[in-house]
Amino acid sequence: MSGHGPATPMTSHPVTGLKGTAEVPGDKSISHRSMILGALSVGETRIEGLLEGEDVLRTAAAMRAFGAEVTDHGGGSWSVHGVGTGGFAEPEDVVDCGNAGTGVRLIMGAMATTPITATFTGDASLRSRPMGRITEPLSLFGTAAYGRAGGLLPMTLQGAASPVPVRYTTPVPSAQVKSAVLLAGLNAPGETVVIEKEATRDHTERMLSGFGATVAVEETPEGRVITLTGQPELVPQDITVPRDPSSAAFLVCAALITEGSDILVPNIGLNPTRAGLFITLREMGADLTYENEREAGGEPVADLRARFSPDMKGINVPPERAPSMIDEYPILSVVAAFAEGRTMMAGVKELRVKESDRIDAMARGLEANGVTVEEGEDWWAVTGMGPKGVPGGGTAAARLDHRIAMSFLCLGMGAQKPVKVDDAGPIATSFPIFERLMGDLGARLVRENH
Ligand code: S3P
Repeated sequence: MSGHGPATPMTSHPVTGLKGTAEVPGDKSISHRSMILGALSVGETRIEGLLEGEDVLRTAAAMRAFGAEVTDHGGGSWSVHGVGTGGFAEPEDVVDCGNAGTGVRLIMGAMATTPITATFTGDASLRSRPMGRITEPLSLFGTAAYGRAGGLLPMTLQGAASPVPVRYTTPVPSAQVKSAVLLAGLNAPGETVVIEKEATRDHTERMLSGFGATVAVEETPEGRVITLTGQPELVPQDITVPRDPSSAAFLVCAALITEGSDILVPNIGLNPTRAGLFITLREMGADLTYENEREAGGEPVADLRARFSPDMKGINVPPERAPSMIDEYPILSVVAAFAEGRTMMAGVKELRVKESDRIDAMARGLEANGVTVEEGEDWWAVTGMGPKGVPGGGTAAARLDHRIAMSFLCLGMGAQKPVKVDDAGPIATSFPIFERLMGDLGARLVRENH
């Protein structure tokens, strides 16, 4: 059984004046891809600043199971000795990806065109998430999948022995689906094409090019067309993982809603396919500035300064911005509770199939803390209560979802009364030093013995 042990209830007490500099860990998306592409290269990839959260450690273990040599040198420094495109060995045991949707879906893609069989599973959250969105395009390559009813894990994939290249339009805006198809296309002859109507995070395309694959990206009336030439020899890389804007988001938002705060979060990757939250916060009137803007590893980077922002207004978040901030809606809804007026978030159906149903998880937890939320299948709206207006005093269920747990702990910092989360354990999947960093800034997060 996969899981993370007994629950860790945690209470976040109201505080004032979050202050200081917080160095957040490496980007989760790029960390998974560094491991996987390293494993598919011939020779040694060095990775600095890897996110050592549970999700990525599962991917590291999976890459070992598929035959790569993965070494932890300490302090976020890792190396991966890869087996080459099409060189994966058959794992001897079930591959347990824990809580990681990105991990399992990208790895399924990466093995789908190699003639081996692998069985995947995960924790209760991952076992409830749809895998049909991956196995459907993989079947076009000739991959067979046998899962539970509804396309759920555990699931066995039998890689295609004679894969054919694929042309596929993603039916949902998902970088995981796009990436699974591109990774499968690596071991298919000829050109594999993915078309996405809305641009999603582009780390896979960028990194595949970096590893020496031929990838062409074209903006067309049909959408973004990504063409990968199959069967390249991937060349190992030295990678410095940029810091995760999705983790930085929690610190930034905590500062915006907590009186007297002024924090600096240095070196945050601001790839336009990831930076939608920061644009939204500025539109709401947040005192959020980019300092020291520069380029690092071909990506825009800045130091983020966030100060308490008592004058934020609710806005309509443009639906077309959703893919660039899909993981940030939970924490945005917390900020919205401290703004004046209503914040409308539409075009966000994908939130229902994340680590939890994030609309339902946030709505129930916000209501338990005195905030009014309206919702439909693909939208929700939060009625702001002003900078000091959120009552708090309630308990929220984390539902095995790191971002839900962190969002409610941030809520407690600016609320009138403490906010409790039933289980802060899942935070370790993406942001294992959250509690310490927040504590250093002046948050009061108290673990409860029960
Ligand atoms: C990710 C893509 C997103 C995101 C997830 C990371 C990735 O999922 O929610 O946290 O690294 O490709 P979808 O592609 O399903 O939207």
